[in-house]
Amino acid sequence: MDLDALKANLKKDFKKIVSQEELNQLKVKYLGKKGQITELSKNIKNLPSKERPTFGKKIGELRSLYESFLGSAQEKIELQIINESLEKDRIDVTLPGSYKSQGKLHPLTITTKKIADFFSSKGYLIEDGPEIESDYYNFDALNIPKDHPARDMHDTFYLENGNLLRTHTSPVQIRSIEKRGAPLKIICPGKVYRSDADKTHTPMFHQVEGLVINENVNFGHLKNEIMTFIDFFFGPDTKVRFRPSYFPFTEPSAEVDIMDKKSNNWLEIMGCGLVHPNVIDMAGLDSKKFSGFAFGMGIERMAKLLYEIEDMRSLFSNDLKFLSQ
Ligand code: PHE
Repeated sequence: MDLDALKANLKKDFKKIVSQEELNQLKVKYLGKKGQITELSKNIKNLPSKERPTFGKKIGELRSLYESFLGSAQEKIELQIINESLEKDRIDVTLPGSYKSQGKLHPLTITTKKIADFFSSKGYLIEDGPEIESDYYNFDALNIPKDHPARDMHDTFYLENGNLLRTHTSPVQIRSIEKRGAPLKIICPGKVYRSDADKTHTPMFHQVEGLVINENVNFGHLKNEIMTFIDFFFGPDTKVRFRPSYFPFTEPSAEVDIMDKKSNNWLEIMGCGLVHPNVIDMAGLDSKKFSGFAFGMGIERMAKLLYEIEDMRSLFSNDLKFLSQ
């Protein structure tokens, strides 16, 4: 094939190119081992020596023509690939997004965590205890003997085997002293049960028990701890009142009220007192050596005040509209 015919073919061939594959074939066709330009170049040795420079120059021109065709064909194909993928992967940004609702912690969980965080930062251990209790731990060991009138106030759920659903978290006081001895600093959040249901009572609710046992613990220690806690939980300008009260397992005993800023009413939030010497002795420590204070608060009530919840039962109705507020 002569040079001019080859040049014409080259032009035609490159014009037709639409894919990378075709382009690769052309590379072989012209510059492969047996390619047309390659073959033509070989002829140079058969030419008389004075024709060789001219022929060489022409071959050179042919090669650069080939290179420039190749370059622009390659560019054209790449552009084509980009355009195709842009067309295929097109995203319609005007379509509505898909909404994924995210889970949240339950108000009671948040409240419990807030209480537990405060006390663990002050060195209290977080304890746990059984919800099915014996009469002994729920009552006797807490200085509430069988015929004690305080038992009536507890609206206890009894099980057939004589055990019961704990009516408060106070049995954990005894279990912790038995397990760990003194000195001791624990809180125990957990479920408690009483046969009672209305706007402000649910048959299952939550309490946090606190207990500190050491030498020379007095009411001042208790008061300071509770006031610091209330400052943390409700804010530093919260009004607090300690009202004398009665629990068989503490002496003296008090109920703690806070002033509700909205209604201007005193609201009871916990019971507390110095641990009764009988309780300390029954749990196996010497009440002449050790004294202590204890407190117990209802978590629902704390959540109710924190979130201004009207009806206690809404904490358990699993109404997402309520829970996600
Ligand atoms: N256990 C008491 C109750 O359920 C609360 C309390 C705990 C009172 C510890 C004093 C000390 O009402």
